[in-house]
Amino acid sequence: MSRFRPKQETPSDETIGDDLLVIVDRSVNPYLVVFHDPTSFRAEQIRALRNQLVAMNPDGSAKTLVVTSAIKGEGKSITTINLALAFAELERHSVLLVDADLRGPSVEDYLNLNPRPGLSDVLLDRVRLSDAIRHAGVRNLDVLGAGTRLTSPSEILTTTRFQDLFARLKEDYRYVIIDTPPVLSATDASVIAARADGTLLTVRLEHSPKALTKQAIRNLQDLGANVLGVFVTEVRGTDPDNDPRFAYRTAEEL
Ligand SMILES: Nc1ncnc2c1ncn2[C@@H]1O[C@H](COP(=O)(O)OP(=O)(O)OP(=O)(O)O)[C@@H](O)[C@H]1O
Ligand SMILES: [Mg+2]
Repeated sequence: MSRFRPKQETPSDETIGDDLLVIVDRSVNPYLVVFHDPTSFRAEQIRALRNQLVAMNPDGSAKTLVVTSAIKGEGKSITTINLALAFAELERHSVLLVDADLRGPSVEDYLNLNPRPGLSDVLLDRVRLSDAIRHAGVRNLDVLGAGTRLTSPSEILTTTRFQDLFARLKEDYRYVIIDTPPVLSATDASVIAARADGTLLTVRLEHSPKALTKQAIRNLQDLGANVLGVFVTEVRGTDPDNDPRFAYRTAEEL
């Protein structure tokens, strides 16, 4: 049990009981498949990605994972949240989802949580970490929102305070999954990725020119990030959920 687990909140418009995220259906992003459609093929793909990451981490010492992309709108935030939900499905895994897109946060919005003081406020010493973290209401998943929006966060991301915060989060959680801004729009993502144990890039098919993705990977690696691979979003074609080739069958049925 993590020492800094937030106090259980009293039921409010954000949480009901221990197990449920209160989500008004129409406000849930349909692409949050691990939550919304957990038996779907897309949710299984996220779990497959999670399993690969777990396999790349046999002794469990890698904990912090950054999700980023070359340019805006490549599905970073949705992928980050799906992945955090998938990690939290694992038995006894405490997982923290961090919104480090301090210029354009979206995690709270996608999870239908009210904005609260978060990462930026912790880094500026305006709020204690334990008060900024809250339980997402699903398994062992906690959330650290972005907090007060900052127009130029690069400076606070390079302070030792940020380094210390990372170290503390690694002590408290089995996995810390971090959403970031696009690599090519500011240095924030590369700076954060340089301190993380691994970095994934999302690439939206037919949206981002290959040269920009390559440039983003170079920028990340130049600052020392451990780029693990890319996750392609918005792949069109046959709907896999209705494609019999992907249907699960028992051995007897085969
Ligand atoms: N797998 C997907 N297929 C199709 N659309 C998607 C997928 N994932 C996300 N989207 C949609 O794409 C848009 C951008 O998604 P998201 O916010 O995750 O991207 P982002 O890279 O975090 O954007 P930003 O750079 O603005 O932070 C949203 O409207 C979302 O609903
Ligand atoms: Mg985003």
